[in-house]
Amino acid sequence: MANPNPEIKYTKLFINNEYIDAVSGKTFPTMNPATGQKIIDVAEGDKADVDLAVEAAKKAFARGSPWREMDPWNRSKIMIKLADLIMRDQVYIANLETLDNGKPFSEAMMDVIYSVEVLKYYAGWCDKFSGDTVPAGSSLYSVTKKEPIGVVGQIIPWNYPLLMLAWKWGPALATGCTIVMKPAEQTPLTALYVASLAKEAGFAPGVINIIPGYGPTAGAAISHHPEIRKVAFTGSVEVGKIIMKAAAETNLKRVSLELGGKSPLVVCDDADVDEAVEIAHEALFSNHGQSCCAGSRTYVHEKIYDQFVKKAVEKAKARKVGNPFEKGVQQGPQIDDEMFTKVLGYIESGKKEGAKLECGGKRLGDVGFFIEPTVFSNVKDDMKIAKEEIFGPVQSIFKFNNLDEMIERANNTQYGLAAAIITKDLNRAVRFSNYVDAGSVWINCYDAVLPQVPFGGYKMSGFGRELGKAGLDNYLETKTVTMKLSNKNL
Ligand code: NAI
Ligand code: MG
Repeated sequence: MANPNPEIKYTKLFINNEYIDAVSGKTFPTMNPATGQKIIDVAEGDKADVDLAVEAAKKAFARGSPWREMDPWNRSKIMIKLADLIMRDQVYIANLETLDNGKPFSEAMMDVIYSVEVLKYYAGWCDKFSGDTVPAGSSLYSVTKKEPIGVVGQIIPWNYPLLMLAWKWGPALATGCTIVMKPAEQTPLTALYVASLAKEAGFAPGVINIIPGYGPTAGAAISHHPEIRKVAFTGSVEVGKIIMKAAAETNLKRVSLELGGKSPLVVCDDADVDEAVEIAHEALFSNHGQSCCAGSRTYVHEKIYDQFVKKAVEKAKARKVGNPFEKGVQQGPQIDDEMFTKVLGYIESGKKEGAKLECGGKRLGDVGFFIEPTVFSNVKDDMKIAKEEIFGPVQSIFKFNNLDEMIERANNTQYGLAAAIITKDLNRAVRFSNYVDAGSVWINCYDAVLPQVPFGGYKMSGFGRELGKAGLDNYLETKTVTMKLSNKNL
């Protein structure tokens, strides 16, 4: 099943249901993070290509176009067809994802399933969102309608390439928008392949367009484009700000941002230690720590602290790191040289600032971007590793003794994406969920992300919610239609 050499069928821009070269003729390499070697060259989109894609998307959205006039239940059918085609090619797509991204093949297989679930969930919404009739007095008749925003730009990161595509396409397609998407420069391959499945499923030319390329060029062309009505972004806070500024300086396009986090996971003194260690381990190490909602601040009650640290270290040491195509491997390489260097830099800073390195901390092997699963204990709130998003396999364990004070510490961050508490005491759990500033709060679990449950951030983790019914709001305008009624007799 796992195949480290999947045939790569598509490397060009996808505009108007055709694969074409960039206007400039330029290409860029996409790399295999497990080897540090180039996989293949991909067409490099820039402003001229984004212009073409927006033209195509505008035409696809125009009055009288097949997509604009399509009945919602037919939109739903095409979306389900696309989901089925993705599932048909699950193994191939997972191999492509593992090659380009470095995540274990088994996890890439799961990402395909999650993506299909998201598309199917949103397919069900096509004919289920609606407006209101508004009480407007006896001489007026007033209704609201929900209408698609139009051409939307979507800029996604490399940590879950296919899944982020599905999170963005699902609500955009369900509402009837048309799409210009830029995948991350590190991971363009699955988006380009899935575009061919969109064509096969029956999406009209221009409904979905894919422009691989870099952020400051292709990405900036999307965020500045005067005809793009909305941009949805997942990535760093730094780039989120740039995108908001671009929207403000151009056409005030709507913006939704899903940015990073520094999410606290609080383990109370009544927790089952083995279970808590397991939850905290997965919360941080899954996807190599490259997750926006990673549980990157593990707070453990002082009564069970030493025991917890000992077990967490055993667990991290047992984590199998290596070739992501190999069975049983739980952790592959970090995405690229830049992130690899950044994560190792954070590890150095943790050591320098006095955190106790319990295990790991080094590069693994001399090929690719592998980092040993790393655990720090004795982490203090003012250390750099306690404040900044590391985005790597580095668990930081803090001590606490009072839950009231703990809530203040949990909230003492610019971020607010997720938080979790592990306790048998319902009162504690609910009070924690009431007072912690986070878009998602998990009790006795972590990463429970479902298509029907909204996901997104408080504070600088962004705004707008993805998934669930709330995810549709990003792609809809409300139109009020009001009619004067004559008071003549009928
Ligand atoms: P990034 O924010 O630079 O990249 C994300 C996407 O934005 C990519 O498609 C990129 O090409 C695009 N982009 C970059 N500059 C742009 C610009 N000026 N205009 C428009 N689009 C632009 O993230 P990067 O550099 O890959 O990682 C840096 C940090 O961001 C990570 O260390 C991590 O802390 C955070 N991050 C958070 C993610 C999340 O899921 N929330 C995902 C990836 C990174
Ligand atoms: Mg960047």
